[in-house]
Amino acid sequence: MHDYRLAAIPGDGIGPEVVEAGLEVLRVCAATDGGFGVAIQAFDWNSENYLLRGHYIPDGGLEQLRTFDAILFGAVGSQRVPDDVSLWGLRLAIVQAFDQYANVRPARLLPGVSSPLDKGDDIDWVIVRENSEGEYAGHGGRAHRGLPIEVGTETAVFTRVGVERIHRFAFELASQRPRRHLTLVTKSNAQRFGMVMWDEIFFEVARDYPAVKVDRELVDAATTRMVLKPDSLDVMVATNLHADILSDLASALSGSLGIGPTANLNPSRQFPSMFEPIHGSAFDITGKGIANPIATFWSVAMMLEHLGEARAAQRLMHAIEETTAAGEHTPDLGGQATTRSVTAAVCRALTG
Ligand code: NAI
Ligand code: MG
Repeated sequence: MHDYRLAAIPGDGIGPEVVEAGLEVLRVCAATDGGFGVAIQAFDWNSENYLLRGHYIPDGGLEQLRTFDAILFGAVGSQRVPDDVSLWGLRLAIVQAFDQYANVRPARLLPGVSSPLDKGDDIDWVIVRENSEGEYAGHGGRAHRGLPIEVGTETAVFTRVGVERIHRFAFELASQRPRRHLTLVTKSNAQRFGMVMWDEIFFEVARDYPAVKVDRELVDAATTRMVLKPDSLDVMVATNLHADILSDLASALSGSLGIGPTANLNPSRQFPSMFEPIHGSAFDITGKGIANPIATFWSVAMMLEHLGEARAAQRLMHAIEETTAAGEHTPDLGGQATTRSVTAAVCRALTG
């Protein structure tokens, strides 16, 4: 029997609450599958410890993390640390060092969950986010701080290698879905250089995938199309910033920010991939025991799929759907369930 070595980074806010729930469900899933085991090591890299130690990731930390089969991440962000320091100190430090360039974000209305849209049932999307460069390349600077002539620049970086590999990844993914439809999300009307190249390379790669139907949408129009014509979309490929925004919208349209999962993939498997809910620390509900753990469970299912445990991933998704269908909903979904009661329900569904 194969034992996977998994790293858990619970992080801040509700991160530890949902990761604990996710690990419990993962252990039950492994035990009831019988085909594999999990050995989990937790890392206390979070904002409290940053304030004590002066760093999120200790010396040698990435080398250690690199040896794991996959990483389960909670959230990072604290009211006591500037958000850019926490994000770059932990999450982006891992995503970029491990070249997790493909960020996959499915959105679907789970049974029993209601959408703010009448046509919410039509939501069945996968957003593919470029996760290594673009607007989050970290290129820019500040000069003349505090003076009237102060300047701040934030340069989006698009490379041919970076753009081509994400488009190819999106085409591969779209070609495996029943509708085989890929929408290029862009802003090449206003942004004349990197975004125009983004479009050109998309249509070059498209020639290798004649079976995939393609179309192109400006990002602002994409938001209206998601709301008004959800069934006209299947897979979308978008830049780091655009997809970040679209996927919060996708998650809210499919019921709550507490539902959306994500996989930060290193497709070459040279480094481990990282799985996490798309939401953040959620200060307003931290410690109340009501964080919705579904996004984390779904992220665990994506992790199992990535590890090659497709049967276990499917069983876990069924258990999640059984639980949402039964009306076991946390307050963000309009119910009164708790993190614990939802976790227990999913574990029961896996055992039953
Ligand atoms: P957020 O996702 O933490 O919260 C937005 C709203 O959604 C809040 O009202 C929250 O209660 C609700 N919500 C989020 N997850 C939920 C869940 N599982 N169950 C029920 N309700 C949930 O986003 P916000 O407020 O913009 O950011 C808070 C902190 O988190 C900031 O420091 C930010 O930088 C960080 N953050 C970290 C992310 C990460 O680690 N990947 C992603 C997004 C934000
Ligand atoms: Mg986001």
